[in-house]
Amino acid sequence: MSLNTIEINRLMDRFDRHDSVWLFGYGSLIFKADFPFIERRPASIRGWSRRFWQGSHDHRGTEAAPGRVVTLVPVDGATCHGMAYLVTPEEFAHLDHREKNGYLRLATEMTFEDGGTAEGIVYIATSDNAAYLGPASEQAIARQIASARGPSGPNSEYLLELARALLELGKYDEHVHAIERHLKEFIGAAR
Ligand code: SIN
Repeated sequence: MSLNTIEINRLMDRFDRHDSVWLFGYGSLIFKADFPFIERRPASIRGWSRRFWQGSHDHRGTEAAPGRVVTLVPVDGATCHGMAYLVTPEEFAHLDHREKNGYLRLATEMTFEDGGTAEGIVYIATSDNAAYLGPASEQAIARQIASARGPSGPNSEYLLELARALLELGKYDEHVHAIERHLKEFIGAAR
């Protein structure tokens, strides 16, 4: 099931009058920056872990056969690594549309790898959104990802691109890379 969060996100106007805003990306926003940005810097946020627990009905799956994409779940002491982009507030119209299937803008502090911190926005799909799928074994998640496909392409492409982009940042993510291993086993077995 999908839920359009565009209207709710428009009410989050806290940074609207700023000249520029930092956006923290931890999923497709790391490997697919389809928006203009002023600069980008590897960064992290504290207290969150990346999980393939969000359903995708609009990008990497369909209403009938949703794919799985990442969201963040609160975990004490955890650090989530990703990419921060400095954008103008106007970019959020496009970003809200792209992240409309359950993701809400949340204000967060981020720490840049090369030093310093900033306040900005992260899109998080919480467990109460209509598209939330929740936990499953990493093998079951890989199986679902192997067969799902949507208007933005195969779900497997999302997983493989994210896994590759994280390694390029020098970050190994146990959850993401375990699912990638299972996916590659399925692909190998199907050949
Ligand atoms: C993000 O990348 O920060 C949000 C989730 C996604 O679009 O994959």
